[in-house]
Amino acid sequence: MNNFIYHNPVKIVFGKGSIKELSELIPKESKILMTYGGGSIKKNGVYEQVKSALKDFNVLEFGGIEPNPRYETLMKAVDICKNEKIDFLLSVGGGSVLDGTKFISAAAKYENGDPWDILSKDAEIKDAIPLGDVLTLSATGSEMNMWAVISRESTKEKLAFGHPLVYPKFSILDPETTFSLSEWQTANGIVDAFVHVLEQYMTYPVNALVQDRFAEALLKILIEEGPKAIKNPKDYDTRANIMWAATQALNGNIGVGVPQDWATHSIGHELTAFYGLDHARTLAIVLPGVWKHQKAAKEEKLKQYAKQVWNYEGSDSVDKAIEFTEQFFRSLGMKTKLKENGIGEEKFEEIANRFEIRNQKLGEHQNIGKKEVIEILKLCLE
Ligand code: NZQ
Ligand code: ZN
Repeated sequence: MNNFIYHNPVKIVFGKGSIKELSELIPKESKILMTYGGGSIKKNGVYEQVKSALKDFNVLEFGGIEPNPRYETLMKAVDICKNEKIDFLLSVGGGSVLDGTKFISAAAKYENGDPWDILSKDAEIKDAIPLGDVLTLSATGSEMNMWAVISRESTKEKLAFGHPLVYPKFSILDPETTFSLSEWQTANGIVDAFVHVLEQYMTYPVNALVQDRFAEALLKILIEEGPKAIKNPKDYDTRANIMWAATQALNGNIGVGVPQDWATHSIGHELTAFYGLDHARTLAIVLPGVWKHQKAAKEEKLKQYAKQVWNYEGSDSVDKAIEFTEQFFRSLGMKTKLKENGIGEEKFEEIANRFEIRNQKLGEHQNIGKKEVIEILKLCLE
């Protein structure tokens, strides 16, 4: 295991009725901008709960943040923050609203030109408006990490940034807010969290037993609880287990001191940018392709995963590991092939070029470049 420093500053307030705690979590004199998405919070009672908890606060609202939050939309909120001198941001929604709010937080304090540079040029962030969130979708782990992924409609780009200043000050996780998720969104969340674990696990062994056993436990929980949440969407315990598992999947815990991959996410983000596929839907397609391509490099961990997570040992356990994973995705209603989504080879070259332009190599061995991305995409076709 490599040396590491582990620090996570996010205060988690978990459980039924915890939205009420908001008034204790936000400084009293704050001028708040509450951000949200396309309106789900107005249908499931979350909006009323937040407004009631904040009845004694000065709250402005900014709705309409899209899934795969867009720079163009977020910049309108940045203007509001500047004009209204907002000093606290409250995200109420899923990962997209929260990621968008992290960007607003940094962009509103960015003084060196176009805030898009934060994403495209890794421009330095020196200040940010403090933010907190009420999470309504278990998936991204954004509630306990410093990352955000933002899309730019005009150039069809989807890029990530991260900075300690955009860690949420707190995250309210009330599993009841996720009762209203559709089967589609529930499945998306399970697959996203599942793949987050795997991006930090499916590499090569470094004898990091805590991280490995913890990762395997999270995978098993998602395999057991995922189908239950789809069948009984209002089962509190199931939703609670999934919510906490998804948070743990990407809060840094299992990734410390171990090699990480993230090739599936990087290629998946391009599929969203080019074709608009939901984030998790891209992962269900790309992950089996990455594993098939990197079978030799990942052999040891694929065997370990087959044994520990799927209880399978045998000479064919590497192939079985890939097969079981794909079956799990399909059991949740995911399509795992590009062609099933009506996508062919037409844009493979253009997609793979993006990595070359950015001089970006993928994978735990940094051995996946343009040529390999095309090879992987071909393995995802059918
Ligand atoms: O916009 P509203 O009306 O709120 O509806 C949303 C949206 O249409 C709906 N929804 C959310 N909570 C709901 C609900 N519907 C009913 N009941 C509820 N309780 O679900 C739809 C999808 O929401 P979104 O926020 O887009 O989903 P998710 O949380 O999966 O976030 C996806 C985004 O996060 C990024 C992805 O790339 C994508 O842009 N990621 C962020 C990461 C991070 N910050 O660490 C890591 C991830 O790998 C990921 O890349
Ligand atoms: Zn993800």
